[in-house]
Amino acid sequence: MKIVFATNNAHKLSEVRAVLGDSFELVTLRQIGITEDIPETGATLDENASLKARYVYERTGLDCFADDTGLEVEALNGAPGVHSARYATDGHDFAANNRKLLHELEGKENRRARFRTVISLIRGGVEQQVEGIVNGTIATEESGCEGFGYDPLFIPDGKAVTFAEMTAEEKNAISHRGRAVAELVKVLKG
Ligand code: IMP
Repeated sequence: MKIVFATNNAHKLSEVRAVLGDSFELVTLRQIGITEDIPETGATLDENASLKARYVYERTGLDCFADDTGLEVEALNGAPGVHSARYATDGHDFAANNRKLLHELEGKENRRARFRTVISLIRGGVEQQVEGIVNGTIATEESGCEGFGYDPLFIPDGKAVTFAEMTAEEKNAISHRGRAVAELVKVLKG
């Protein structure tokens, strides 16, 4: 079954491909000729996932899904949340975002946080949403070089290392995106 994944992020693509398995052929935005950045102007992750999926569906009529992810930090009242990509600067500067997060948490005892992924699926013109959450804590310094984004700072509950110190397989098994994609698979196969 062919389905468009509304992303050009190679990390996300390989993570989702690994969880989805062989029964779905994932098509990227580039492969269907969408090269512009899809506007993410929503106020919530749910809105942004929906905006991205609808953008693709309205232009192509193809079955598709889009995800939006945010890191929600308790002591920062849920920030960076929907602004996770552009927390420190206008671009997707992972290193600057991580520096800012460490700075904002300096001296704070509560370092609880969670990653939340929302996926909007449009199939046969009908939209459905699923989500995946992983709880954890923000480390006091970066460790590891796997993954992307806030991975070097995020220690999931029950583990002693950051996402960036895990193999892709280990991360997928417990991550927000892995869990959201597992829910997506249930809907697609159900
Ligand atoms: P997006 O809008 O879903 O691409 O995600 C927004 C931002 O959240 C990204 O630019 C990353 O900084 C961060 N992010 C998303 N997924 C992950 C992840 O799996 N690990 C670490 N950071 C992530």
